Amino acid sequence: MFGNLENMKKLSFLAIAVFIIAMLTACSSSSKDLDTQKSNEKQSETSGKIAVVYFSGTGNTKVIAEMIAKETNADIFEIVPKQAYTDADLNYNDDNCRANKEQNDDAARPQISNDLSATTEYDVIYLGHPIWWGTVPRIIQTYLEKYDLSDATIHTFCTSGSSSIDKSLSDLKGWYPKLNIIDGKRLNGATESDIKDFCSR
Ligand SMILES: Cc1cc2nc3c(=O)[nH]c(=O)nc-3n(C[C@H](O)[C@H](O)[C@H](O)COP(=O)(O)O)c2cc1C
Repeated sequence: MFGNLENMKKLSFLAIAVFIIAMLTACSSSSKDLDTQKSNEKQSETSGKIAVVYFSGTGNTKVIAEMIAKETNADIFEIVPKQAYTDADLNYNDDNCRANKEQNDDAARPQISNDLSATTEYDVIYLGHPIWWGTVPRIIQTYLEKYDLSDATIHTFCTSGSSSIDKSLSDLKGWYPKLNIIDGKRLNGATESDIKDFCSR
């Protein structure tokens, strides 16, 4: 009789041990599933569709836009004004030049000639512009108001004579609070390694 009791005890102990091992295995595989899911999410974050969208009056920002597109394997879109800017339009020493008049007019929205609706399909947008009087040229506002980029993560970049990007970045965030504008960087004379740094943030 005591022999049977002893056997029962051993069997119960074995059953408990098997149960604990089964539970531990289940936990570890579900945490592996979670890890895999997280890593897939991370990958889709980093490998989402990328576009570089830029406006450039005299070509400086265009050079940087092309470097970013090459580095990130992105599609590139230029914001082309309906009425091209002439040298006289961009002569900021003349108070009456077109660019200065636009910058002085909060309501100015110079028209865009090309269809940029495809840019709303991208997960990440690098938005480039020169600095005009400390901020973005009004045509950048035309673009942001015409197309719904609220699903995208937006990084801005600029070129300028010397001004930083800080004011244009805070202006954009203030004017368009629904947009997910993450950061911005002035990239005058950027090297490939500067571009790599900027794009890996
Ligand atoms: C109308 C106008 C206003 C400008 N205002 C500024 C400014 O406030 N600060 C600055 O550092 N550079 C200013 N610049 C210089 C441009 O930001 C600089 O030359 C820029 O690299 C031009 O880029 P883009 O060739 O892509 O047009 C201005 C240029 C123009 C045409």
